[in-house]
Amino acid sequence: MSETQSYTVVLEQLPLILVKSVQEVSVAASLHELEQLKAKYIGKSGEISLIMQQLRIVPVDQKKEFGAAVNKTKAQFEEAWIDKKDQLLEQELSVKLAAENIDVTLAGRGNPSGSLHPISLSLQRMLNIFKQLGFDVADGPEIETDYYNFLALNFPHNHPSRAMQDTFYTQNRNILRTHTSPLQIRFAETNQPPLKVIAPGRVYRIDMDATHSPMFHQLEGLWVDKNISLANLKGVLIEFLRRFFDNSSLQVRFRASFFPFTEPSAEIDIMSEEGKWLEVAGCGMVHPNVLSNMKINPEIYSGFAFGLGIDRFTMLRYGINDLRLMFENDMDFLTQFTGVK
Ligand code: FA5
Ligand code: MG
Repeated sequence: MSETQSYTVVLEQLPLILVKSVQEVSVAASLHELEQLKAKYIGKSGEISLIMQQLRIVPVDQKKEFGAAVNKTKAQFEEAWIDKKDQLLEQELSVKLAAENIDVTLAGRGNPSGSLHPISLSLQRMLNIFKQLGFDVADGPEIETDYYNFLALNFPHNHPSRAMQDTFYTQNRNILRTHTSPLQIRFAETNQPPLKVIAPGRVYRIDMDATHSPMFHQLEGLWVDKNISLANLKGVLIEFLRRFFDNSSLQVRFRASFFPFTEPSAEIDIMSEEGKWLEVAGCGMVHPNVLSNMKINPEIYSGFAFGLGIDRFTMLRYGINDLRLMFENDMDFLTQFTGVK
């Protein structure tokens, strides 16, 4: 075969190579396969490149035409190749996007919700009931002076009744209030009778066992008006107890007692699930000396007061047998109150 013949035969192969190469490109399944096809056809010793190398045996006057034909085939191959590459890249991207896609319909990781502390639960309950019974709500400082915690409440200086409550003193002889009763005095200073108020808060005593904590909670109550009697005291407190415990057959007893600021005085006991009486509150008719300290005329007005032990109410309502459990931040204990009312 002469050289002229051989290069024309070669030229005739071009369309076949083009069809074959474009066909192979079109079915390439990966970028890697596509790269191999590039080498196979237009790489250094690729089929189309080898044809181009025949240029040296093509007669001068036909080199141009030959070169153009090979270049055209190469360009057509490249065009198909680039299209395929774009297509594969796009496919790869959508596979990646699908993998990274956030499925908003999947179940979430859960969002554990906290719950109110049992003491907060009973305080809320108490506030609701007393608001329904027409009481205002007040508060005041936890660090008190001797005057509010003791003297104005008819505890004389150096009187043994002060030893009823083991008191924490600050360095400058102020007091961590031992009860919420100072709030009676503070409220009366800025309000005129009729006074009908409750005042919850933290109180402190040197006390520690299953029913005593050094920090605990009381809710004070005070109702001063004309003609308030012991019957009103019992009526309000029994109504409160029934509503609080949701129990109209609750066993309650009023036990005669002593407080310097009330006369007569009583303590209230409630029967626990274990069949034991538990003291939950002190109460009584406001002592005339205390009314005078409040600048209220005891000849015209009378009143009753009470101090509930919120922690003890909580123990009874939720069946907690040791009050210290409520101050240990134990999650196993606390999470039992999720959803409780
Ligand atoms: C008082 O504190 C009087 N201020 C109550 C009062 C107010 C009487 C108004 C009259 C008029 P007492 O020390 O008994 O009283 O305490 C009242 C209640 O607080 C007790 O019945 C008990 O339920 C609760 N309590 C007392 N000490 C503790 C303690 N250490 N831990 C938990 N609860 C206590
Ligand atoms: Mg008591």
